[in-house]
Amino acid sequence: MPVHASLLILKPSLATTFLRSSLSSALVPFPLIRLRPFPNPRNLSFLSSAASSPTHSLVSSSGDNVGGGRSGAISPPPIEDSVQKIDVNPPRGTRDFPPEDMRLRNWLFNHFREVSRSFGFEEVDFPVLESEALFIRKAGEEIRDQLYCFEDRGNRRVALRPELTPSLARLVIQKGKSVSLPLKWFAVGQCWRYERMTRGRRREHYQWNMDIIGVPEVMAEAELISSIVTFFKRVGITASDVGFKVSSRKVLQEVLRCYSIPENLFGKVCVIIDKMEKIPIDEITKELKSLGMSEEAIKDLLQVLSIKSLTKLEEILGAAGEAVADLKQLFSLAEKFGYSEWIQFDASVVRGLAYYTGIVFEGFDREGKLRAICGGGRYDHLLSTFGGDDVPACGFGFGDAVIIELLKEKGLLPELSLQVENIVCALDHYLQGAAAAVATRLREKGQSVDLVLESKPLKWVFKRAARTNAQRLILVGNSEWQRGMVSVKILSSGEQYEIKLDELE
Ligand code: HAM
Repeated sequence: MPVHASLLILKPSLATTFLRSSLSSALVPFPLIRLRPFPNPRNLSFLSSAASSPTHSLVSSSGDNVGGGRSGAISPPPIEDSVQKIDVNPPRGTRDFPPEDMRLRNWLFNHFREVSRSFGFEEVDFPVLESEALFIRKAGEEIRDQLYCFEDRGNRRVALRPELTPSLARLVIQKGKSVSLPLKWFAVGQCWRYERMTRGRRREHYQWNMDIIGVPEVMAEAELISSIVTFFKRVGITASDVGFKVSSRKVLQEVLRCYSIPENLFGKVCVIIDKMEKIPIDEITKELKSLGMSEEAIKDLLQVLSIKSLTKLEEILGAAGEAVADLKQLFSLAEKFGYSEWIQFDASVVRGLAYYTGIVFEGFDREGKLRAICGGGRYDHLLSTFGGDDVPACGFGFGDAVIIELLKEKGLLPELSLQVENIVCALDHYLQGAAAAVATRLREKGQSVDLVLESKPLKWVFKRAARTNAQRLILVGNSEWQRGMVSVKILSSGEQYEIKLDELE
């Protein structure tokens, strides 16, 4: 093909530059810009539509038609001719993640993932959109009122997941006997709650979850708390910054049993008690009374909930009950795991979700400035509420928002900057293909490369290298390239040398 015919597909200015440089360097060994022949218009029925859309490239690198689309494809919506100014902010309570925030998010999620894997957990995920029924429980939980729910185009009630646990239970039931227990699963996923916005509470947040399915022993809860402690230590948070308040819902259960409160009210009582720090005690008493609890039962319940010592709890409930036995075992295991200083007994912790049945825990900042950092517990009966067989299970959820606030408070946020290993630049426009070949070679060797995609003055390239924190600048110039070489500059030391392309690593 006559090369110059192909220049018709370049902008006129570029075509002239190319002509000039290709004439001045007639001896260049590698004709690196491979241009394809301008297609014969008679063969290209799509040209007529592409012609009206100047942003479409006419021919893809493989020579396929990219602009024309399939025949019978849905036509794009008509373009409004009036300009509609949009609000450039994301919806209230949600976030964009520009590169600097995305780097922080990735840093955090990498810690979540690495800790989970170091404990032998496998990653799972579920759809963000689930059937609404999955999240509707009768206990009057706050989470239900915060549901983002709607009817889809097929008249199905759906919801954006406010948490991951019901989806996990659904998947465990679906997998049935095809999976062998115990399952150790973790997930990092976005959750949606129409929440009143406070520090660390948003309408959209990411949650790191770790769950153990199939282990009835307290060892499972002890392992989960150990994984969170491992995470905290990795990011520089100590036991004097945060702690875990631990209790068991069986404490409540034992008190309720003494007063013959029906089992089916258990979840509702827990949800009311969970609001104790948020609403006045009179309100709590009123709500408990409305469930049919006597004044005496309420008084005793509130008294037990104020206990902060396991010895005291044992004095009141006796040593024979499961609540005390489980908790004693957890504290003894904490010693063996080596995180005793992180945990404390607090009977008022019940958690706000109806499905917990045994040990519950929440991570809190010792300065008391923030909301719960994480929370979890045992939920041995959740699967049967969805029609599956009961399988013992426990887990936790750990949000991304409060921990970032805490890291900020403690000055522990990492400095994360964009970092590429190489910046590669052609010194002449006609050498851009050569620069592309150099970039490809390095990328195949596992190196990251920021390839300069336009003709730019060297001053610009150095500025860019500083912004991207590039370690090496690789310049592809005419005389070196003719000898099969490139120039390398180590940007930290200023050291400069030429190297054969074959030897560039
Ligand atoms: P949760 O206590 O509702 O539990 O939430 C767990 C964590 O998610 C909270 O401690 C907090 O870090 C974060 N979180 C919750 N809501 C928000 C919000 N609106 N904005 C920012 N962060 C938030 C659960 O969701 C359970 N499903 C956890 C679990 C897993 N239990 C067993 N397995």
